[in-house]
Amino acid sequence: MSRASHVVLSVPAAILLASALHSFSAGIDPLSSGIANLNRALPSCGGCHLGVQGQNNLRVRVDLSAHSLAPGQAISITTSATGGTTDPQLRGGFSSDVTAGTFTAGANTRVAIRPDAISHSQRTPGRSWTYGYVAPLSPGPVEMFVTVNTVNGDGFNSGDIWGFHGFQASATVPTPVRLYVNAQGVQPVGTACAGGFGNVPVLGARQVPQVGNQAFAVEAHGLPPGTGVALLLNAPTNFTPIELGPIGMAGCTLHVDPVNLVVLNGLSGTGDAQRATATANFPLPIPNDSRVLGNVLVVQAAILDLASGRPTPITMTNGLRVTVQ
Ligand code: HEC
Repeated sequence: MSRASHVVLSVPAAILLASALHSFSAGIDPLSSGIANLNRALPSCGGCHLGVQGQNNLRVRVDLSAHSLAPGQAISITTSATGGTTDPQLRGGFSSDVTAGTFTAGANTRVAIRPDAISHSQRTPGRSWTYGYVAPLSPGPVEMFVTVNTVNGDGFNSGDIWGFHGFQASATVPTPVRLYVNAQGVQPVGTACAGGFGNVPVLGARQVPQVGNQAFAVEAHGLPPGTGVALLLNAPTNFTPIELGPIGMAGCTLHVDPVNLVVLNGLSGTGDAQRATATANFPLPIPNDSRVLGNVLVVQAAILDLASGRPTPITMTNGLRVTVQ
């Protein structure tokens, strides 16, 4: 396929393209690439690289030190790829952009013209890049879009295999990595476990839990559609978070004290299962009574997730510690 494409594009044309866009081996900028929405839709890297998308079990991983964040919080992100083009030196590159917040460069990475995008900075062998991210000050959900290109280093734009972050090898759109910036008075607690199709859910709250705020709610993003979601609530206690591996939920942690637990049952909305585009919203109206000022509630969502692959098919979000302001 890529060989055939190479033949279709005449060698002088390929050289012209390569020299005109020479700087791309030192990173790709969504703004100056000439491809609108570089990380968010086709053709993405495939607009210039003639290789195929998502073949040879190419998997794009994005590991974050945390998904639910305080305003302005700095975290570390590692983007890596397995599979893809066979190359003894494992050459490759990536591009990430976010709907809010800014990136900071790490080794072999470079922030783009706009600080909400980042890419590889040189042709260093290796298909893993670690860089920083600083959350915006305004609360709400944030989505990050990531693309990796595994290249063969032949100096031409053929034979490379690129792919979006996400489960489907031939997706036409990437699966976003979900983050959440919490309002004042809402503190993230612990981490979530990965759910079906590798998606990590995130729990957050965008409103301040103020006395009398009838609209206060917590919301879970990155969920399978139409499934049961339970919100676990309790007062803060001295309990130690419980690893749930022994009950068939490897990797998941209970952040809410199970003794005297209150459970609110809900349902996730519509969406795409493999991309986990559904959400669930739990209204928690705060009484207009000054006696609740300073009260604290710890919450966490448990998602019925049949694709999780766990013997007990439940995926847990991060927890939140809500202090009435
Ligand atoms: C606008 C066209 C264009 C787009 C879009 C594009 N590239 Fe490239 N890229 C090139 C060209 C041309 C080269 C070859 C440059 C060279 O050999 O010096 C290249 C080279 C590279 C290289 C270095 C290859 C080597 O042999 O060392 C990497 C890595 C890379 N691109 C990654 C990406 C990624 C990741 C994306 C998508 C997020 C992407 N590119 C999108 C044009 C593009």
